[in-house]
Amino acid sequence: MQDKDSVIQHSSSYHVPVLFDEAIDALQVKPDGVYADCTFGGGGHSRGILDKLGPNGKLIAFDQDADARQNVPADERVVFVPNNFRHLQRFLRLNGFAKVDGVLADLGVSSHQFDEGERGFSTRFDGPLDMRMDKRQENNASEILKKYTEQQLHKLFEQYGEITNSKTLAKQIVQQRNHNPLQTIAHLKAIISPVVKGNPNKYLAQVFQALRIEVNDEMGALKEMLEQLPAVLKVGGRAAIITFHSLEDRLVKTFFRNGTFDEQEENSLLPEDKKNDLKIITKKPIIAEEHEVRRNPRSRSAKLRVAERV
Ligand SMILES: C[S@@+](CC[C@H](N)C(=O)[O-])C[C@H]1O[C@@H](n2cnc3c(N)ncnc32)[C@H](O)[C@@H]1O
Repeated sequence: MQDKDSVIQHSSSYHVPVLFDEAIDALQVKPDGVYADCTFGGGGHSRGILDKLGPNGKLIAFDQDADARQNVPADERVVFVPNNFRHLQRFLRLNGFAKVDGVLADLGVSSHQFDEGERGFSTRFDGPLDMRMDKRQENNASEILKKYTEQQLHKLFEQYGEITNSKTLAKQIVQQRNHNPLQTIAHLKAIISPVVKGNPNKYLAQVFQALRIEVNDEMGALKEMLEQLPAVLKVGGRAAIITFHSLEDRLVKTFFRNGTFDEQEENSLLPEDKKNDLKIITKKPIIAEEHEVRRNPRSRSAKLRVAERV
């Protein structure tokens, strides 16, 4: 069995948690409580919860990436769920928990996923155009680049990558894929190089972000999870969600404020039975302090929002 220090060292090379103290404090962990970590990853945040839980507390840790299992501690209080958090309520129930005292989600990909070239998440390596967090899933980035119409590619690069010349980019991909199917990162980089605008690294990062969000249906999964929060949280229970780009943050902010994804809806105008069951704890998102950003540049774009079930 690994000792505690080697587990910690091993997991921090897997991923360094962002906004650690802020997220754990926000959950106000009760020693006998039940908590769900939707995005276990290297288990950094989970460890913070476990440290505050007593012997009767429970932690239900979700991760759709099978690699995360290697970080699960040998601890009777932990139940690992190797599935998508879009099925939060279903798997909580299956494990005997109708309601929980807190839900944490630290969205996006882990450093481990970025650092493994063959997973296809990073522009730094050549490798397959994969980008699936869950390898049981069929569609990978190569399939999307092969099957999507020019219009669909245009929309996804525009929406998820905020790429200014997304129409030109989609056209270039569709023209080039007819000669040779796109399977590797090096090939994708080569065919899009004539249309790259501005800083090439930034441009590529935006292309990869857009593809990754689509491959993993990240916006769809987040919406479904948020919608389940009022049902799975006990009254007084808290949700703490860390996002890394404006599209995710907008969904969380709107849902916490309105209880729907309709940005126009004003909670006070809703009929009583449609009133929001969540109260915002963080009027403004919590962001990383300078010393954290210096130590862990990934934290630069992190935003933590917290709500309480009322
Ligand atoms: C940013 S990392 C989380 C790191 C973690 N908080 C820690 O301290 O190590 C995100 C993790 O969530 C997982 N993940 C992302 N979206 C998911 C989803 N919809 N369902 C389940 N797991 C997901 C990823 O596979 C990844 O391991």
